Amino acid sequence: MHIVFVAPECAPCVKTGGLGEVLGALPAAIASLGHRITMFVPYYRTVRLAMETQPDATVPSVVLESVTIPFPERNRFVRVLDGGNHGGVQTYLIDCPEFFDREDVYGPPGENYPDNALRFGLYCRAVLEACKLLGVPDVFHLHDWQASFVSILLHTTYAADPLLRDAATVFTIHNGGYQGMFPPGQLRDLLLPAALFTGGALATDSKVNPFLGALRNSDAVTAVSPSYAEELKTPEYGEGLEKVYRERGDAFSGILNGIDADEWNSAIDPHLAAHYSANDLEGKQECRRDLLHAFDADGTADHTAVVGMVSRLAAQKGFDLIAGAMSELAELDLLLLIVGRGEPELEESFRELAEIYPKHLRVSPEFHETLAHKVQAGADMTLMPSRYEPSGLTQMYSLRYGTVPIVRATGGLRDTVQDGEDGNGFAFTEYTSDALVTTVKRALAEFADTANWQERMRRGMRADLSWKRAAAEYVAVYERAVAAHAAGQSAGRG
Ligand code: ADP
Ligand code: GLC
Repeated sequence: MHIVFVAPECAPCVKTGGLGEVLGALPAAIASLGHRITMFVPYYRTVRLAMETQPDATVPSVVLESVTIPFPERNRFVRVLDGGNHGGVQTYLIDCPEFFDREDVYGPPGENYPDNALRFGLYCRAVLEACKLLGVPDVFHLHDWQASFVSILLHTTYAADPLLRDAATVFTIHNGGYQGMFPPGQLRDLLLPAALFTGGALATDSKVNPFLGALRNSDAVTAVSPSYAEELKTPEYGEGLEKVYRERGDAFSGILNGIDADEWNSAIDPHLAAHYSANDLEGKQECRRDLLHAFDADGTADHTAVVGMVSRLAAQKGFDLIAGAMSELAELDLLLLIVGRGEPELEESFRELAEIYPKHLRVSPEFHETLAHKVQAGADMTLMPSRYEPSGLTQMYSLRYGTVPIVRATGGLRDTVQDGEDGNGFAFTEYTSDALVTTVKRALAEFADTANWQERMRRGMRADLSWKRAAAEYVAVYERAVAAHAAGQSAGRG
């Protein structure tokens, strides 16, 4: 099969969270099963800078000099650049400096650029036009709302296109909390029919909801864990779309993410001060010392539990529970180390909390790859009290690194972390600071018992979290989507 990934982020060049990480690894895992993979990524400024500073820096060659993207007043002309072929994945870059040569990917921290719908609308249209020249796939695999315009365009503007009409679509939801809503006036700029809004097909309150379009129209829809797929069907998690998720029936399923087992391997990780494995844990102590040094906390006693967190600072991640629990956590024998950037109000309140509790909380407000690896290796446990968590990669890195995760049992956290005597971590269900504190106390009690603790560490380290399983599951979904699309087409023709 030929699959086109419509990938708004892709590690290592552009990554604001787990989405970029997934799109840096999953395509190659599917290619290794014998499929042809093409990937389209916007040529953001950060991608250009990353390519220019690589050791083997090259200027990407031009594959298509000018693809016309119509707009009401003046067309835009997009270049398609060759991003290289790595691990069997051919990457193309959509170059439109007016939209993508900007300081940030989606907008300054905590904000969105007001023209994001136009930026990603243009990106999706450019992908369709480029595919007509470079090869139409069997399946367009769309990731999050930024890619949703592909599904919308295929059902409207391009519905009768003889080249594109046989291509199926699979929409993968990495985060149902971001739906890319925009004011109805921008439909005109995107040259999309106003009826999409007035007829209610893409309407949520007074906004156009492109995510809803892909959710309704794609031949198959997946969420990044089975538990999250179930949760999305409920009012608590569905963000107003629970009924639509339920209506999709068997066409909607969950596939748990994997992790890049080469990038996250404590036996060879170049970011670490020492290396270790499940069979030989000794190097982890050196990683702990190195981490404490990085946070200027050298004197921390061995019996003090070092609890790490690497996270976007966003409401989704449950920071309000930690803020509410901080006075009680400060009574315990622990040091919480947070590496996180994001919403300015959260950055401010955690800066203040770190001043109030200097012995128990340190915060590094930056996006820092090396520090993220040091935390995963050097901490004794990690904390992820998420309000919702579609999959979560960070807890899987923790498991792999023998750093015991303490999580709220939701979405992918529920599917990867097991509490109980034979478990690999600790989990709580109720979204309250009390439940968090009680669970942290249980973890600390076991931490004091080295033999039991190390058993729990090892159980996490031995789990197979690689992409192989997920890749095979996606191929099965592609096959179902192709069949569903063909059935829909022949019904339409009949
Ligand atoms: P999400 O996609 O919701 O942010 P995930 O757990 O799936 O959550 O993925 C987060 C990814 O982003 C991980 O690879 C994590 O290491 C990385 N990350 C998040 N915040 C930071 C940070 N401040 N510095 C470095 N890496 C970070
Ligand atoms: C999202 C989710 C996270 C998931 C990631 C990759 O950003 O918040 O849970 O792991 O996408 O799928």
